[in-house]
Amino acid sequence: MTVRVAPSILSADFARLADAVARVESAGADLIHVDVMDGHFVPNITIGVPVVAALSRVTKLPLDVHLMISDPDRYLDAFAGAGAAMITVHAEVLPHLHRTLTHIRHLGAKAGVALNPSTPVGMLSDVVAEIDYVLVMSVNPGFGGQKFIPHTFAKITAARQLLGSGERAAAIEVDGGVDAANAGALVAAGAAILVAGASIFGQPDPAAALHALRRAAEGGR
Ligand code: DX5
Ligand code: ZN
Repeated sequence: MTVRVAPSILSADFARLADAVARVESAGADLIHVDVMDGHFVPNITIGVPVVAALSRVTKLPLDVHLMISDPDRYLDAFAGAGAAMITVHAEVLPHLHRTLTHIRHLGAKAGVALNPSTPVGMLSDVVAEIDYVLVMSVNPGFGGQKFIPHTFAKITAARQLLGSGERAAAIEVDGGVDAANAGALVAAGAAILVAGASIFGQPDPAAALHALRRAAEGGR
């Protein structure tokens, strides 16, 4: 399985997002991870639809849009229209998760479900067929640069078991505190998409940091 690296622009300079994206694009990033926060589901406010639309004009990379918002259903069409190739919603806020995931696919985007550290993987057992990827949160969402929660490894193993391992099985994405020190072990546990903010954009040379993360990730297979 190939490992995809998704730099999170949350740790980039918001006044220079196009430059930040160009740097990691030329360094070989696979996706651009965009954290949308509403100050309600999480205690922070970031960016919305217009910024996703602007980013889609300056990069060829798929935009991996992580919706940390209380009412994602209300904005799915707008984010898909703005160019989101992947839309991640949090299971914790969706009473009709099957309907939401079906709708994301209908809009032409990949459908992802995020689980907070305290949310059990079993919550997804009846929607496995509707999921393109599961985002396992390895920190409590809301901020970049937090410390990785080690229980994440057990969570990845449980998610891998639930999702199966065939070619068409949903991928596992890990988000929060990912760096070159834990990337190899995360991939060995079953992660295929690594989100990294502080360990890429928080570094003096984001391109070199991305290369180091990828090397570490690929050493884990
Ligand atoms: C946290 C966000 C993450 C964040 C990760 O709520 O969902 O995507 O940007 O940042 P790092 O890699 O710095 O933990
Ligand atoms: Zn995220």
